[in-house]
Amino acid sequence: MKATAIAPANIAFIKYWGRKNHEQFLPLTTTNSMNLAACTAKTTVEFSADYEADEIIVKAPNMEDATLQPQDGDKTAELFKALDRLRAIAGVNLKAKVLSELNFPYKAGIASSAAGIAAFTAATLEALELRDQLLDKAELSRQVRKVGSVSAARSVADGYTEAVLTAEDDCYVRQIAPAEHWDLVDVVAVVGAEQKSISTSQGHLLAETSPFLEARVRYLQEKVIPSLLNGGNPDNPQKVDRPDAVKEAILEKNFNVLADLAEADALNMHAVMLTSTPSVLYLGPKSLEIMRKVWQWRADGLPVFVTFDAGPNAHLITLSQYQGELLKLLKDESEVNYTIASGVGKGVQIVSEHLESTKNG
Ligand code: PMV
Repeated sequence: MKATAIAPANIAFIKYWGRKNHEQFLPLTTTNSMNLAACTAKTTVEFSADYEADEIIVKAPNMEDATLQPQDGDKTAELFKALDRLRAIAGVNLKAKVLSELNFPYKAGIASSAAGIAAFTAATLEALELRDQLLDKAELSRQVRKVGSVSAARSVADGYTEAVLTAEDDCYVRQIAPAEHWDLVDVVAVVGAEQKSISTSQGHLLAETSPFLEARVRYLQEKVIPSLLNGGNPDNPQKVDRPDAVKEAILEKNFNVLADLAEADALNMHAVMLTSTPSVLYLGPKSLEIMRKVWQWRADGLPVFVTFDAGPNAHLITLSQYQGELLKLLKDESEVNYTIASGVGKGVQIVSEHLESTKNG
């Protein structure tokens, strides 16, 4: 019983921060993102009588192979819990060996957990032959979410995706547009790769201590006219909430509207983080320096905007034709250690080529 899946990381435009229900990993609002074609995790899961205990090994270009333990963190604990839960559903009693390989640096501010959790869930479902949970993308996204991450669930569908929160308190993922729809590029300016002081799992709990969390939810639910946000075409006067305004900007390929909405959302999320008790500070001086530069470059006419997840590294979003120009500008910035550029990618896929154990793994 062996299967392998590949899944991309993603970068959110409307971010998931704080939860409506912690046990169900239910977000407070709909969120959305684009998949990163160049940043993927490949995961092989094998259930066998040869194994005496579950084992999870992670490989990445910038580190020694790591064997994960349930006590390593909330996200890791969820992986071990998921093996038990899905084994029970499948009526299987065998222990598992999980090998996961990232093709991009671990802890570089790119959502390695999103790629890893999505690939892990799909490979586990395939290995256990739980095809009802695997083949329907919405159902697969719920399964990924239950392994502890809404952001990982967004990696299930292809291209631009949204994790929809329904009035019935369901949350599932669907596609906004396929990868080929619009050639956006995420250039990650890596300014530091220090360990996070507060994990995102803890951060979602702390969000409730911020006086601004309720205001954030209200802000995201407020109805706006996306086409008017940036002096765009007023022919479409329909008012929608901000996640839907982002969706509309993607569908209409309106870069300026997307830029305004996504930057505002990132700053809004970091305001909640900063005003939690204890304060959750992910941005550093170099992050702010890059943000200032991006604003200047945009004012000078380069279509680029910046967004940050739970870390100091800046995600600079541009159109593919401007990638070269942006990389040239970033070369002159002393704050930037290195860059990783990625176009928009497919979602999770089952593949036939498995990862093989090495002597360490
Ligand atoms: O998926 P989690 O639980 O690691 O939360 C991370 C959420 C952010 O990356 C900060 C934002 C997002 O929506 O991707």
